[in-house]
Amino acid sequence: MSNKRGNFSGKVGFILAAAGSAVGLGNLWRFPYLAAKYGGGIFLLVYLILTVTFGFALMTAEIAIGRKTGLSTVGAFKKLDKRFAFLGYMGSVVPMIILPYYCVIGGWVTKYAVTFITGGADNAATGSFFSAFTEKSTEPVIWLFLFVILTAVVVLFGVDKGIEKVSKILMPALVLLTIFISVYTLFLPGAMDGVLYYITPDFSHFSVKTVLAAMGQLFYSMSISMGIMVTYGSYLKKDVNIESSVKGIELFDTGIAFFSGLMIVPAVFAFSGGDQAALGQGPGLMFVTLPKVFDSMPGGAFIGATFFILVFLAALTSSISLMETIVSIVQDKVGFSRKNSCLVVIALCLLLGIPSALGSNAWASIKILGFQFLDFFDFISNSVLMPVVALITCLFVGYVIKPKSVIDEIEMNSVRFRRKKLFVIVIKYFAPICIVLILVSSILSGLGFINI
Ligand code: PHE
Repeated sequence: MSNKRGNFSGKVGFILAAAGSAVGLGNLWRFPYLAAKYGGGIFLLVYLILTVTFGFALMTAEIAIGRKTGLSTVGAFKKLDKRFAFLGYMGSVVPMIILPYYCVIGGWVTKYAVTFITGGADNAATGSFFSAFTEKSTEPVIWLFLFVILTAVVVLFGVDKGIEKVSKILMPALVLLTIFISVYTLFLPGAMDGVLYYITPDFSHFSVKTVLAAMGQLFYSMSISMGIMVTYGSYLKKDVNIESSVKGIELFDTGIAFFSGLMIVPAVFAFSGGDQAALGQGPGLMFVTLPKVFDSMPGGAFIGATFFILVFLAALTSSISLMETIVSIVQDKVGFSRKNSCLVVIALCLLLGIPSALGSNAWASIKILGFQFLDFFDFISNSVLMPVVALITCLFVGYVIKPKSVIDEIEMNSVRFRRKKLFVIVIKYFAPICIVLILVSSILSGLGFINI
């Protein structure tokens, strides 16, 4: 994206481009495994409540701040209040932590897409394919490298028109295919128990961890608390209605996450009989379960290939927006050319990405605070940094620049801000209190003081 502002052609273009950043591996890969692990229906319920409160308020605030200042994150906070420039920097660190491991998973997806295209569907459906790939070979490093380079090529050659155009075709195709596969999954024998597990909240599965996981997932999935939506907002024209755009993005993002869960969680039930270990298996879930679903479908090899190509493209649009953000920060702050900034970011991706790629094999014995590398980076960004950035953003909007400055931006051109009251309550009270409670309890439990 260039530095000219007002780049999006209008509301639909903006919603789709923002959804292009928001919809990615977070929805298709991360959401289903968290939902499976943290109790199914109860996770879903908590997630939905947080989306229409936290998610709505923070995304609205970020987009409005971007549009009001016309600047990306560091500049935007600085312009509003010099003392809060650090918030912009803090938010910028998050994409730097996420991008390397995001590219590792992007690499896995690329491997699967290529495997399906080259007729390896049966092979991928064997239970050991995934573990042989990630635990017994150094191949993930090659795929990581490939994915990083592909992302960098797009970022380097500019994505002015690209992001918007690609998203317009890709997003609807992905939605249709995800719905199609999830409906198919429902007809697998034994899948109905899984559907019930997924949509019926069972309060005995509730814990603080459910809320923490759902909150981290929300930030990650909606690309909030990391400055990205501030940047996107700065490209937005003044006559676009922010509130209804946010609604559109939320609907897209949550809808795709919901259907991805419906595509994967009941399938795990069907193939494992609801075994807790299978449900809690984490990052590998999509890569182990879906190939089996495809294997059981007529024409599954073709559908599987199409699916992984779409996931690959969705991951690519998200990694582009992550890399673009970091490259423009390096460019602005260090003064490097675009090309050199890109090289720096590629180096960063490999440096931090290789440990994540090898974390479940050659380097499996190295643990940070008990986590493997990939899980560690995921935890630090989603469960620690993003909540902290979100908390300070709420306090900043609620008590420093005051909600009115955001509200004025939204109500510009006499647009009515329908959920204004909700916005103020969430930003000033609900979100800060919840985030503090959750952070404190997760730190206490991390230190072994309480057991949640
Ligand atoms: N929201 C993206 C996803 O769900 C991940 C992402 C985060 C993309 C931040 C860009 C910026 O996969």
